[in-house]
Amino acid sequence: MISVLGTVIDPELGTDIVTLGMVPAVTVSDRGVVTVTVKLTIGGCPLRADIKREVEARVGVHPGVTDVRITWGEMTPDERSDVMLKARWNARQHAGDTQVPASTRVLAIASGKGGVGKSSVTVNLAVALARRGRTVGVLDADIWGFSVPRLLGMSERLEAAKDNETGRALIVPNEVRIGDGLLKVVSTGFLVGEDTALMWRGLMLTKAVEQFLRDVRWGDLDDLLIDMPPGTGDVQMGLSRLLPRADMVVVTTPALAAQKVAQRAADMARRSFVRVVGVVENMSAFTCADGDVYPLFGSGGGQALADDIGVPLLGQVPIEPAVAAGGDAGRPVTLVDPASPAAREFEAIATRLGDVVPTPDAGEQPDMAGCSARMLAAVAEALDA
Ligand SMILES: Nc1ncnc2c1ncn2[C@@H]1O[C@H](COP(=O)(O)OP(=O)(O)OP(=O)(O)O)[C@@H](O)[C@H]1O
Ligand SMILES: [Mg+2]
Repeated sequence: MISVLGTVIDPELGTDIVTLGMVPAVTVSDRGVVTVTVKLTIGGCPLRADIKREVEARVGVHPGVTDVRITWGEMTPDERSDVMLKARWNARQHAGDTQVPASTRVLAIASGKGGVGKSSVTVNLAVALARRGRTVGVLDADIWGFSVPRLLGMSERLEAAKDNETGRALIVPNEVRIGDGLLKVVSTGFLVGEDTALMWRGLMLTKAVEQFLRDVRWGDLDDLLIDMPPGTGDVQMGLSRLLPRADMVVVTTPALAAQKVAQRAADMARRSFVRVVGVVENMSAFTCADGDVYPLFGSGGGQALADDIGVPLLGQVPIEPAVAAGGDAGRPVTLVDPASPAAREFEAIATRLGDVVPTPDAGEQPDMAGCSARMLAAVAEALDA
């Protein structure tokens, strides 16, 4: 029975439901009625029907089975994070090598829609982290709509150099010193001019990101910030496959309606077992010179989204002309006006990110054997009885 259930794959998590610990109990009655308890990660899981069909089909054909019944359960938050850990571990086993050091904290800055300030948040956080003496990689994964070169005022062409150890040619990131820290930046903007239309197809998009992970000589790196393209498409799914240990920061505007769109990014993260570590609300209330506060894009969206996903709200960056002006001038506000409210908020977010430790690497596997073994024992017991 266990080997039968072990062939039912959770379509989202890509791993079988037994290994994932989603089957806490199986009972077999005298008359051959099998009752399988399946705990879903969330009660309203849209894939419930798929799992039901699979379990019924696979268990039903087993000799001696007269009927299959499913009792549905829902996981506790602890059980859910355990499942995610297992699924991520599994994905990591199948991920290829990258040049990103195992100790690097990887944060993908994402959102459900465009124009909410992902790129501005990425470069300002990168500067804030570098100001603490950290070495920070910035990967512009917005292959078509790259904006990192402009935001950081960088334009040098990327060069390749032979790796001493392997003899392989690797791309050398463009570097800029920030105080005691260092930014290492790659973007397709360093390969083509900003006004060159990129005629790349979906496949090329993920290929480009893959190349930035595998063929860039990142060297030492404390953090790698990835500026994601808008939406929840190929690049997002590709990233979780290439670098399953990437964590995600979701950026949203304060409008309560925007929260629904941003939720999509979080859903996508869940589907590809990426951990969301927090929400950044950008374009929060504008404070004018006389102190009046105007919530131009509404208020409460960041907190509502954070509560919804169950992660901390890392900060609320106000609308400030200096953020946009800094971007246009290629001099991030965190660099040119560290005393401004927006810059101070970016600093605060960088501090809060200090609590975020990288997810354990592939070496530290969760107790998978124990889980399957418990399951096997339960089934064997039930069949014996
Ligand atoms: N806090 C802010 N205050 C004022 N202007 C801002 C703020 N954040 C971002 N902007 C401006 O909003 C515009 C969009 O920001 P940005 O390019 O960072 O968004 P994005 O989410 O990366 O967009 P895309 O989806 O196109 O990649 C830019 O002109 C930027 O300067
Ligand atoms: Mg952008």
